[in-house]
This record gives sequence, C-alpha cells and structure tokens, in this order.
Amino acid sequence: MHVGGPNLGDRAAFDRYIDQIFGTRRLSNGGPLVQELEDRIAELLGVRHAIAVVNGTVGLQLAARALGLSGEVIVPSYTFVATAHALSWIGLTPVFADIDDLTHTLDPLAVSRAITPATSGIVAVHLWGRPAAVERLQKVADDHGLELVFDAAHAFGVSHNGRMIGSFGRAEVFSFHATKFFNTFEGGAVTTDDDDLAERLRRLRNFGFQGLDDVGGEGTNGKMPEICAAMGLVNLDAIESFVQTNRLIHATYRRALARVPNVRLLEFPPGEAANYQYAVLEVEDGDPQLRDRVIDALRAENVMARRYFWPGCHRMAPYADQVPGAGEWLPVTELVAGRVIVLPTGTAMTPERAEAVVGIVDAVVSTAASDRRLAALTGPQGEDS
Ligand SMILES: Cc1ncc(COP(=O)(O)O)c(C=O)c1O
Repeated sequence: MHVGGPNLGDRAAFDRYIDQIFGTRRLSNGGPLVQELEDRIAELLGVRHAIAVVNGTVGLQLAARALGLSGEVIVPSYTFVATAHALSWIGLTPVFADIDDLTHTLDPLAVSRAITPATSGIVAVHLWGRPAAVERLQKVADDHGLELVFDAAHAFGVSHNGRMIGSFGRAEVFSFHATKFFNTFEGGAVTTDDDDLAERLRRLRNFGFQGLDDVGGEGTNGKMPEICAAMGLVNLDAIESFVQTNRLIHATYRRALARVPNVRLLEFPPGEAANYQYAVLEVEDGDPQLRDRVIDALRAENVMARRYFWPGCHRMAPYADQVPGAGEWLPVTELVAGRVIVLPTGTAMTPERAEAVVGIVDAVVSTAASDRRLAALTGPQGEDS
C-alpha cells in the first residue's frame, strides 16, 4: 500500500495555463498569473495584500527584514526547522519557547518568560493548521513593543473566530510547498493589511527595485515564477474538494481510532474553517519506543507516516550546540515531539486506505497494551514459579 501525496487540481486547466505562458512569453517578474493569484488569495483571506514568493522560508525572511527585526526573535522549537533557520540565516537569533500540550502552539506565558532586552519580535506558528493563541500573543507583543509575525505555512484556508488566517499580527507567511494543503509546486505568500509594509515586501522581493532602473536598497530574489502561479490558480479552484477529501479521511481516522488504546487524534476547533491537511496522532503509553515501532510498521507497508517535528529544533544543528540543555525549559516540546505521528491525508488517500492505516497502528499499539496487561498479571508470579 503506497499512500500519501500532493493535492492536485485539474490537469487540463493547468495545460491551458501552459499554453497561455508560451503564448505571452511571460515567465516571471510579476506576470499576469502571479498578479491574478495574489488578487485571488487576498480576496479569499480577506486581507489587503498577498505578496507571492518563491517559498515560505524566503517569505519569513522578507517579513523579518521588512519589519526590521534584530537580535532575538522568539519562536517555538516544535515546528519545521525552516521557522528557525529562516531567521538564523539572516543573522537573527531564534530563541525557543515552549508550547501548550493540547494545541502544540506557542505558550504565551513561555513567550513572556523568554523576552530579554534583545528581543525584537515573535514568530508564532499555526501548527497543523490550528490557529496559535493569536489574541494572547498579540497582547504579549503589544505589552513589550514587539513585532508579531505568524508562520502560517500550514494554515491556508483556516479561520480563527470566523476570520481567515492571513490578517493577524503584522504579517502572516504561508508556504505553498508540494506537501501543503494548497501548493504551487514550491511557493508561498506574505499577507498583511499594512500598505507600507506591503510596499517594502514587494521591493525586498525584487532586489530592492522600486522603479525600472531605480534600486532603493538591498533586496533578494523572492519572486514566484508564472508556472507556479498557474499551479496555484488551478489548485485554488480545487480547494473545496481538497477539504472534503481531507475531512472525510480525518473522520475515518477518528472513527477507526476510537477502538485503539493509548492514542489521541488532534481535533480542529469546532465551528471554524479548517483544511484537515494534518492528521496528528499522539501515541502515549509510557513506553518511549512505542511511537517509533508504529512508524516502522507503517513504513514497512509503504505508508508515508512521519515523526513530526522530531526531535525539535533545539536538538538540531546548529541550535543544539548554541543552546545545550534547552530541553530543560522545553519540557512540553520534548514530550510532544516524542509521541506524534502524522498520518497521510490528501487527495491521494481514500477512507479504505485510512482504515488500513489504523489497522496497522492498532496491531502495534493494542499488542503492546495487552502484553503490558499480561506482564502486570503474570510478572512477579512468573518469576516465582
Ligand atoms: C511550519 C513551517 N514553516 C516554514 C516552512 C517553510 O516553507 P517552504 O518549504 O515553502 O520554504 C514549512 C514547510 O516547509 C513549515 O512547515
């Protein structure tokens, strides 16, 4: 069984865009497809500006630069390493704060504790497409004069209190990587309601150009090519069907997992738009090896299940050397990183395959649970007899 794969929209529609690209010979530099994609994303998310970029990592760097971040920036350790790397690569120091064990997103109290005179900002992650503690983080940022940016790599098509993710904080940064709910092969977008910030972001994205021969300052190449925008336009038309499939797969997992002991499937906030792209399973029976045994069993059947985000950024180079012992003030990160498995979702999945995936999980976890019960019953007596 080979399961998992990207969400793909209509192939024939993509072919028509290729014809258009060859016809107009517009390949990059803010062509009509990028502009159309930006307009449609801004409208969908209810935000003034969507600035399409080459990937989410560069989007984070553009946001950090455009906001003038310096010194230390507080981030979760429990995230994809790009959140920390993007900042470190441009000379900022990511400072890791712990997460909440129920939501897996930054704990605002831990953020407060991590603030020093060198702190300039907070990059919070809407992990798994579940909104971070937006209001409480904004309060911490306001109280200390810090910039707040959201890494919304997982949160396209998600709402918080009925408002779409995209206009919270000073800016939000999406990834449109192939693995994401909505993809443009590679790509991303920075969204903001701030006109001046948007202007700076557009300049920084294009080598600092502010007119044809007029460079206003330094910049990078963060432009999204037209072919990626074409993929985005095709996939935008299909997001409803992506959500439907993901929701069905998620419901199948939830139903099937109800019979499996010592596991918990992370739920999405009720009454909000969600993309259900991540089916996050926590395996917890006190045995630190059990999660990995489940992964091995799934892999043996060609199921693309993974340990996310293990072992936590603070245990990866270069941060492990820079902040040795960070695990001491990141106990929840350590715990969660040791028990999460992400199960496959997306349009390459079917409910039947999801049932089969749970069957594999169940075989390992239930066997471990019954072995344990047996050992508890027979252990000491077994030794005596
Ligand atoms: C939480 C998070 N932040 C940032 C990124 C980086 O995005 P990209 O791969 O588009 O550079 C990703 C995914 O790749 C991610 O999962």
